[in-house]
Amino acid sequence: MRMVDIHSHFLPRSWPDLAARFGGPDWPWLRHTAPGEAMLMVGEREFRPVTSACWDPAVRLEAMDRDGVEVQIMCTTPLLFCYERPAAQALECARIFNDAAREICAAAPRRLKSLCQVPLQDTELACRELSRAMADGHIGVHIGNHVGARELNDEGLISFLQHCAAEGAAVFVHPWDMMSPERMSKYMLPWLVAMPAETQLSILWLILSGAFERLPRSLKLCFAHGGGSFPYLIGRIDNAWRNRDIVREDCPRLPSSYVDRFHVDAAVFSTDALAFLVKVMGEDRVMLGSDYPYPLGEQQVGSLIRSHPTLPERTRAKLLHGNASRFFALEPARSGRNQEAAQQARRRA
Ligand code: CO
Repeated sequence: MRMVDIHSHFLPRSWPDLAARFGGPDWPWLRHTAPGEAMLMVGEREFRPVTSACWDPAVRLEAMDRDGVEVQIMCTTPLLFCYERPAAQALECARIFNDAAREICAAAPRRLKSLCQVPLQDTELACRELSRAMADGHIGVHIGNHVGARELNDEGLISFLQHCAAEGAAVFVHPWDMMSPERMSKYMLPWLVAMPAETQLSILWLILSGAFERLPRSLKLCFAHGGGSFPYLIGRIDNAWRNRDIVREDCPRLPSSYVDRFHVDAAVFSTDALAFLVKVMGEDRVMLGSDYPYPLGEQQVGSLIRSHPTLPERTRAKLLHGNASRFFALEPARSGRNQEAAQQARRRA
């Protein structure tokens, strides 16, 4: 069955020395340690070991062929957002990484698609870079779920989301800059506890603030990791809305009635959780997303959906490719894959 993977990350093989260009501490850079291996650094601190799958399209395409993924949508790594930097610096970083993404995708333009990043701390610059990136071939934007203390219902962020809707840019919201790091010092607890909570927090800011009442229905919005803790706790939220006026003061409708305003990926790693997610979100709003090529992602992309014991084939097809094709307005499958394989073979010869 055709597969479109909507959640994958890339890093360029190298980028300009940002510390030298802008000054100041903690700029990200790649320290190459062995052929095909590198350490993603933040200043002098080791952040995460990475492999050439991050930057080498041949490695990505080989993994896609192995798993049967036809189209992969890649975005940068949240560490590179630079939302806490001066906006002009974040804009320059966005251009560097956005242009690098297009270069990687150029190896197989029908199979590798990219989401851009923007300097979200400055609405005007963010809108301008989004338009530039869309004209350059990106199919949407990857944003962090907050900018410091500004949540998705912030006026500037709402304006940006309205601009995305006007541009037809899909918006993929990734949790980042996780809460309470001082209480999660070990065991990757920020990724296991705070990330799902961050995503739930963002969805609730949009719902309970009434932001969805002001955002156009045409806005294409998707949250990572199955919407984090949100789907599992929707009953608790509806109950609070019914029984406390301070919960519903800005939100005119039952919170669960807003689930038709956004999509989620299917990265939940459990057949029971996936069945529940489809029940809560509806089978038209869940899309395969693997978090490739990172170790917290699905190691054999698509296996959870493909081998699901209870979801009917029609639903699995929607999750594997149908919903993503519509959401990202992808070209129909046809013979594109074969054409591109032939092109690649020609290039190799
Ligand atoms: Co991710």
